[in-house]
Amino acid sequence: MDVKELISKMTLQEKASLLSGADFWHTKAVERLGLKAFMMCDGPNGLRKQEGVTDHLGLNESIKTVCYPTASSVASSFDTDMAKELGERLGDECVREDIAMLLGPGINMKRSPVCGRNFEYYSEDPYLAGKIAASYINGLQSKGVCACPKHYAANNQEYRRMSGSSMVDERTLHEIYLKAFEVVVKEARPKSIMCSYNQLNGTYLSENKYMLTDVLRDKWGFDGFVVTDWGAVKGPVKGVEAGLSLAMPGGSDDHEKTIIAAVEDGTLEESKVDRMVEYLLEALLWSEESRAKDARPSDDATRKSDYEFARKLSEESAVLLKNERRALPIRDDAKVLFVGEFANKPRYQGSGSSHINSAYVSNALDAASGKDVSFARGYDTKDAGASLRLREEAVEAAADCDVIVIFAGLPASYESEGFDRKDINLPPEQDKLIMELSRLGKKTVVVMHNGAPVAMPWIDMVDAVLDVQLGGDGVGEATVRLLYGEVNPSGKLAETYPLKLSDNPSYLNFPGDKGNPVYAEGIYIGYRYYEKKHMPVLFPFGHGLSYTEFEYSNFKVSADSITDKDKLEVSVDVWNVGRYPGKEAVQLYVSCDNGKASRPMKELKGFKKVELKPGEIKTVTFTLDADSFAYYNTDIHDFYVESGEYTVMVGSSSSDIRHAEKIAVEGTVKLPLNLTPYTPIGEILENETGAKILGPYMQAMGNADSGEAGDALGEGGDEMMKAMLLEMPITALVGFGVIDSQTLEGLLKQLNG
Ligand code: BGC
Repeated sequence: MDVKELISKMTLQEKASLLSGADFWHTKAVERLGLKAFMMCDGPNGLRKQEGVTDHLGLNESIKTVCYPTASSVASSFDTDMAKELGERLGDECVREDIAMLLGPGINMKRSPVCGRNFEYYSEDPYLAGKIAASYINGLQSKGVCACPKHYAANNQEYRRMSGSSMVDERTLHEIYLKAFEVVVKEARPKSIMCSYNQLNGTYLSENKYMLTDVLRDKWGFDGFVVTDWGAVKGPVKGVEAGLSLAMPGGSDDHEKTIIAAVEDGTLEESKVDRMVEYLLEALLWSEESRAKDARPSDDATRKSDYEFARKLSEESAVLLKNERRALPIRDDAKVLFVGEFANKPRYQGSGSSHINSAYVSNALDAASGKDVSFARGYDTKDAGASLRLREEAVEAAADCDVIVIFAGLPASYESEGFDRKDINLPPEQDKLIMELSRLGKKTVVVMHNGAPVAMPWIDMVDAVLDVQLGGDGVGEATVRLLYGEVNPSGKLAETYPLKLSDNPSYLNFPGDKGNPVYAEGIYIGYRYYEKKHMPVLFPFGHGLSYTEFEYSNFKVSADSITDKDKLEVSVDVWNVGRYPGKEAVQLYVSCDNGKASRPMKELKGFKKVELKPGEIKTVTFTLDADSFAYYNTDIHDFYVESGEYTVMVGSSSSDIRHAEKIAVEGTVKLPLNLTPYTPIGEILENETGAKILGPYMQAMGNADSGEAGDALGEGGDEMMKAMLLEMPITALVGFGVIDSQTLEGLLKQLNG
């Protein structure tokens, strides 16, 4: 169907009607022209299709289906193929259920570990989040289903999420909080984007032209449509002006009436309404036409295969945080005690609009049937008072076992959309239980269920920690297979685990006065901060152990000097030198070592997961380009490669770098000088032209009898005075009588020109 032609046949009322929903989950139809209503649904880690009473907080039941691991887990797999397959499976399900758009994935950065929705987001690192999300979106859209990455943007807390204003400087915004969105727009071309509830620097996202048009469309080339988060629209007219197509949910005709009135009284151009309708229909009709014909049918075989995939993804994303005294894997003949409610009722997903109605959830206790495993409840998540007795029972039950496995984690009431956590602690009765059991001298293993970092005051007391995160329906089976070594853990942390909450860089500005947080830590979030400050952490970004060992060798970079127009090939051999088959997520980081801009100690610029049998070696390759070396420069409002020395590193985690090589990179873009009377003399002299023009004056100044300051410029002059002079604004030359103000003006013009 030709969209422009279709729109040309519509009345103003019909067009305006399309810009808000019909109800909670549908767009409006224009029956006269054969345009149907389209349905959208929450995900992103399963399909939340509500057929009965509808809501956006996950309160009412949706269809029974498979719940996959949450985004926080998926990112820990460091596996783009798995993320793509997840998108494809969800796409198939959307096709079966006649869903045109899936509301996800959530790609906000994890600024603070206590943001209530961290389980729904991928990472504290924009590159990792962007690449995993792009794969998921490519998978989903390959089935003809629109993706809708959310929540655009700087929506990094739940406190006052519907009204607060995130105060973010331009560089931080583009380098950290927008980067994952930029990556997905450029690499996966999502058909839609959901704008968030909050304000950015004082303007609501739903009416923010800079964000919805200037950046999204004009800078990145987005060609889909923007939909609001549910209830995020403020002014319908301002929305259209800014680049907003669809206000959700629907149910009343207020929105369309406001738009019609504005067009009729001349305050809104009808052509703008047309354009917003065009973006919307282009995407929805694309979905109608390209729905996969080969989607697997809705039957037991499909359900089983989706479940198996959920289990596999759970296995790939579990992170082995610690493993000493060979506590893991557990031998098949060991006498094992499972302790904790989560062993038979795992916590496997978060709460809120992403909540999935699982048809079946596996649990570790059932999955371990046939093995020598007994069980003690250990704690009660609903009744902390019962815990003393349960703890005593667990200690008693542990008397004749070889290995104690404690299933711990955050109860559902701790982690949800709509509010933030108060701290990063486990419920105190779980900490006590772990400490008491670890004092018995047995091998003690903790299995952790959580969608965001927790403190582990007992970390030195236990032998092993396996973090199965929020692992979806298959988590119980996956956990047993990992514990007993049927599968080798290969997940890596996508978010740093700090020692304590107050170590986190956002701590003093989270959640901000009246929910208006100043992002004062700038680009230094997550490992970018901890590393720069040389701060110890509980577990670093990218960390994750294996039952086998990998050696890295033969590290090569294709050149020792490049320009920002070249590509750099990097390769390293990874060798499984241990006894188990396993997978390693090789990570590539880059640092700029002598630039002028403030830069992190390292930034992730590549990752690849490889599977290796014992003794096997594989070569892992990466290609770096300008993006790998750039930072966002506010003079040119764009990413920019500074000339200088860079280090390219490969390793097994951000703190386990195995090889590094220095290379010189030449930036070919010239920055405007933007000199003012207050630019320090030293900065002008650093510039070649600046030195040429200013040189004679400085010489004159050095020769003039102007006291100590003059001497300072002479050969062998006093170093301190020289340093002081170089820091002075150039206008000081007028003050010293070296030049007059007209000469200064001419000088600046000449330099800036
Ligand atoms: C959430 C979105 C969700 C929408 C629809 C909102 O409250 O923030 O992520 O897609 O509801 O349920």
